[in-house]
Amino acid sequence: MDPIELLKEDHAKVKKLLEELDATTEETTGARHELFAKIKSEMEVHEAIEEEIFYPALKQHPKAKEIVLEGYEEHNVVDRIMGDLAGLPVEDETWGAKLSVMKENIEHHIEEEEDDMFVKARDVFDRDELDSLGARMKARKDQLQASH
Ligand SMILES: [Fe+2]
Ligand SMILES: [Fe+2]
Repeated sequence: MDPIELLKEDHAKVKKLLEELDATTEETTGARHELFAKIKSEMEVHEAIEEEIFYPALKQHPKAKEIVLEGYEEHNVVDRIMGDLAGLPVEDETWGAKLSVMKENIEHHIEEEEDDMFVKARDVFDRDELDSLGARMKARKDQLQASH
């Protein structure tokens, strides 16, 4: 299992769910609830495998350290907006605006990871390291999903 492919699959899934959620309105609250819960759960598991396994390994490489540190901060911003949304009724008039900002932040973060961080990761990790990271991340993801 390639760890970068695993992360990219998660990204594609979350981007698709965000488009679907973005198309909901105050009138389609059922779909809003369901899609938001799905995205929140996907993001929590995804951020966990990045922060517990992928980021710490990559951060050890000086040329990737800065982008990894930025990654943690971008997760914090997304988590904050996601927390706000989780505590707000989906029919609240500010819900859509908060969602737009969260979506933009997630999309920007995904772009930085795929266009910069993962390129550096391909460069610094050898095949064995990638295999070992991929196996650990997949196992942790399965474990987290079972309890989510
Ligand atoms: Fe990611
Ligand atoms: Fe991330």
